[in-house]
Amino acid sequence: ILYSIMPKPLKGKKVLITAGATREFFDPIRYISNASSGQMGYSLARMAYILGADEVLLISAPTNLKKPYGVNLINVISALEMYNKVMENINNFDIIIMNAAVADFRPAIKSNQKLKKDKESTTLNLEPNPDILKETGKLKKENQILIGFAAESENILQNSIDKLKRKNLDFIVANDLSNFSRDFYEGILISKDGKKIEIKENSKEEAAYRIFNLFLQQI
Ligand code: CTP
Ligand code: CA
Repeated sequence: ILYSIMPKPLKGKKVLITAGATREFFDPIRYISNASSGQMGYSLARMAYILGADEVLLISAPTNLKKPYGVNLINVISALEMYNKVMENINNFDIIIMNAAVADFRPAIKSNQKLKKDKESTTLNLEPNPDILKETGKLKKENQILIGFAAESENILQNSIDKLKRKNLDFIVANDLSNFSRDFYEGILISKDGKKIEIKENSKEEAAYRIFNLFLQQI
């Protein structure tokens, strides 16, 4: 009921969001991944619908979350699959938000059989995955807004600003990994012109609301 009387600042806009933690398998049941829950991305997708977006596409790696109402969901598993789905779709979207925890590397070989423990020790060879956000930044059109998230354990601001520049983003939300276990959300929204705004909210849903309102004021 409350949501129906909220302003609809995203009316006329199509929003694409990536979320979840990609899985990079090296045998039929084992993979490397990231501890991200996917919650922020799902909250952003839900909020984009509530704020009146014409279309919301959520391209999601595995999570335990249910599809938000009103959102189109494409499920993927690996970074490569996510990359392909993003590339197929980016031209149709005005606002692109990448919140997925994408594995930077994948195992160089995937065994068809379950690997056996018949060795003293073992190593896993990894090769780089595409940087989905950076590739999107290269293709970005004049009228598209591109937003990334940065997860940092040190030099939070500087590392996030470097990513914003390197990937040709309009905004980045800087996150301090040491805040992740807290029961509130804390981050800093940084725009390409250097403006920084602190975000501190009780939930990821409220943080998503605030992030949309803050960057919409600036575009
Ligand atoms: N990202 C992506 N594709 C990748 C890696 C990251 O799209 N292969 C996106 C994430 O969704 C996030 C942003 O890039 O929006 C930053 O991710 P992060 O892991 O913090 O930075 P990286 O650029 O991967 O650098 P590093 O992990 O070395 O800090
Ligand atoms: Ca990374």
